Amino acid sequence: MATLFQLQRLFLSSPAFAVVGASKNTSKYGTKVLNWYKQRGLPVTPVHPRESELEGLKTVSSINELATPTQTSISIITPPAVTLTILQSALELGVPALWLQPGAADDAVDAFIKEKGLQDRVIYGGADGPCIMVQGDGVRAQLDGVIAFSSQTAMEGIPQQTTQRNPEEEAAKRAQEEEMRRDVMATVLEGAARERLSRISLVSPERSKQIEALLLRMVQSGQLRGRVSENQLIDLLEQMEDAGEKSQPKKSAIVFQRRKDPDDDFDF
Ligand SMILES: *[C@@H]1O[C@H](CO)[C@@H](O)[C@H](O)[C@H]1NC(C)=O
Repeated sequence: MATLFQLQRLFLSSPAFAVVGASKNTSKYGTKVLNWYKQRGLPVTPVHPRESELEGLKTVSSINELATPTQTSISIITPPAVTLTILQSALELGVPALWLQPGAADDAVDAFIKEKGLQDRVIYGGADGPCIMVQGDGVRAQLDGVIAFSSQTAMEGIPQQTTQRNPEEEAAKRAQEEEMRRDVMATVLEGAARERLSRISLVSPERSKQIEALLLRMVQSGQLRGRVSENQLIDLLEQMEDAGEKSQPKKSAIVFQRRKDPDDDFDF
């Protein structure tokens, strides 16, 4: 059974996000959650059955229309009856993680989650359950920490002379590592990302080794779900550069007020 923190890490390590329950009303929590993602520059798609655009972002009319549902974590801020139908679709679509904001679940939703064994994919609680606007930044800082740490150890991890091993053992070990590296890169990177990495390796073999070591670590620590696109690879490269220069936590001040009347908050 995953802990809440593990679930939140899983949720926030997805390459894409969607929000169900945002609306034209910026006072509503759904819209605030959408803006939480937007303000952090995270790739987020609002889902709305009627509106074509919310907070300047193009919507899709249902989660069935998400481009990459198996790589999209979904925030849900809807009345429990709607939440239930979304969970059903999410299950069919293979959505990796869902975060039910306070008030979006009821007993029927709880029962559905347990019946379908979704506890390892769904973050939920009662009216005082976890809220991404309260806890999201803390979890993200941890994820950044892991990435910064990985890239640092990756940089230190470039083979040094090891005097204990004899040359044959050393060669065998290198060959084995090389094979594993190639396997992982072949499965984990999308075509365009793989090509970019091979271009990088021509210009800077050192840099491509570092990013490969980082990707390996992310695979081994379960942080990577789904394949890495070219844009994600570029993001990682940038993060690695940032981590190399200085590890400064992203700061953000957000004032959060808990909703008083749960029924007043849904507009979906
Ligand atoms: C927007 O939502 C708030 C909070 O639910 C509500 O009090 C307000 O009446 C809504 N405004 C409109 C224009 O619907």
